[in-house]
Amino acid sequence: MHDMIERVLFSEEQIAQRVRELGQAIACDYADSSNLLLIGVLRGVAVFFGDMMRAIDRPLEIDFMSISSYGASTTSSGVVRILKDLDENIIGRDVVIIEDIVDTGLTLSYLVKLLRDRRPASLEICSLLNKPERRKEPVDVKYVGFTIPDQFVVGYGLDYAQKFRNLPYIGILKPEVYTK
Ligand code: IMP
Ligand code: MG
Repeated sequence: MHDMIERVLFSEEQIAQRVRELGQAIACDYADSSNLLLIGVLRGVAVFFGDMMRAIDRPLEIDFMSISSYGASTTSSGVVRILKDLDENIIGRDVVIIEDIVDTGLTLSYLVKLLRDRRPASLEICSLLNKPERRKEPVDVKYVGFTIPDQFVVGYGLDYAQKFRNLPYIGILKPEVYTK
């Protein structure tokens, strides 16, 4: 697996350090909240989510959603399909959406609209990675792990064709992996 990686962008240690910082920021910002709910967007967020929830030293609850974009022609409309909805009611709750990466922003802008309609007390976004160059829809990401250029990355939960999610670091694939 590692021989298909051209370059490591963020090592395990770098990620761990940044996760600690994000966790402390969220713990501090929500110190007065009694109903913090972290919502993970499957599947890419799985690894980050597990680390993030343990980095937030506060009472909290978790829930997950699974969504997928419609085909290429409709992704531009930002319509996403809900494969698994939340189990929890979020009315009046302090919600933080945890994401792996914000790319075009279409997925998250749709999700934010959907969740706002359910009237949480507050709604913020925490994303491990942010690719602002690719943005088509504005999204307000309050907590960002790392801002990266327009490059396709894998590892630490992120996949290429469902593979590489279990790499402990974030890396850039060799071009031959795409062209094969
Ligand atoms: P968008 O912001 O709606 O374009 O979509 C974000 C989703 O696209 C993420 O949750 C990932 O699943 C996927 N994605 C975008 N960029 C990358 C990448 O560089 N590596 C792996 N997945 C990516
Ligand atoms: Mg995702």
